[in-house]
Amino acid sequence: MVQVAEIIVTPQESGFGARIEGVDLSRPLPPAVLAEVKAAWARHSVVAFPGQPLSLEALEAFTQTIGPFGVDPFIAPMPGHPNVLELRREPDETATNFGAGWHSDWSFQKTPPAATLLRSQVIPPVGGDTLFADCSRAYEALSPVMKKMLEGVRAIHSASRAYGTQGVFAKESAKRTMEIIVSPEADKTLTHPLVRTHPVTGRKALFVSPVYTVGIEGMAVAESQAILGFLFAHIVQEQFVYRHRWEKDMLLMWDNRCTVHFAEGGYDGHLRVMHRTTVAGEPPV
Ligand code: SIN
Repeated sequence: MVQVAEIIVTPQESGFGARIEGVDLSRPLPPAVLAEVKAAWARHSVVAFPGQPLSLEALEAFTQTIGPFGVDPFIAPMPGHPNVLELRREPDETATNFGAGWHSDWSFQKTPPAATLLRSQVIPPVGGDTLFADCSRAYEALSPVMKKMLEGVRAIHSASRAYGTQGVFAKESAKRTMEIIVSPEADKTLTHPLVRTHPVTGRKALFVSPVYTVGIEGMAVAESQAILGFLFAHIVQEQFVYRHRWEKDMLLMWDNRCTVHFAEGGYDGHLRVMHRTTVAGEPPV
């Protein structure tokens, strides 16, 4: 008898985002189950696994079943765990919460991460949701004329606004628990296709974000600001957004190739602790 793997996938009503149950991520997944998980992730882009009290080692091991670790710059990793970041905000912190701007993780890298995995260790009683926008649907909803106009266009990405020498973190004076590394490296720029094609699904997606996209190659500042401003507002319209509400011990895995996300605050006075890994991606095409 051939055992057929069965996981329970409960999609959000829109189909963007899903909950996956019936798996224990603390142990190696049988290949057929892993294949189902990957297929659900490709289909829904943001998948949540509730009830996963994983050790850091188990989080690392599951991450590596999705792919090799990505490179996480500008934030000191956890001691003894070079590929895990702790996103920690203490109750008395007044600095803006980490990730409070729409972005796709590390899109300023030559090969930005395909996936990010984030596991909730301590969640606040209020606030702290993570919002995701579906950049494939946002692209598909554009007019044929706009799609044509964006063909072959390259967007300029940089970490400068956040981690650069003149960036937000360089100017910050409020206490922050996370160790952020401001660096001239962050001031560098590179370009990616403004519309990228997903290597698994073949769907096209807008690949821009207000945090890391700083211009459009070959355009005057006013021109690129107008187009990017339109696209940023277009992507985060309600019909493309999924609001993720955390539960303790939940693992979330999202696809940076076709989504952008925003970490909401609203939990001053409460502790929030998350552990994060990334999976290496491929150069956007
Ligand atoms: C991030 O990775 O951008 C932060 C997400 C979160 O803390 O909810």
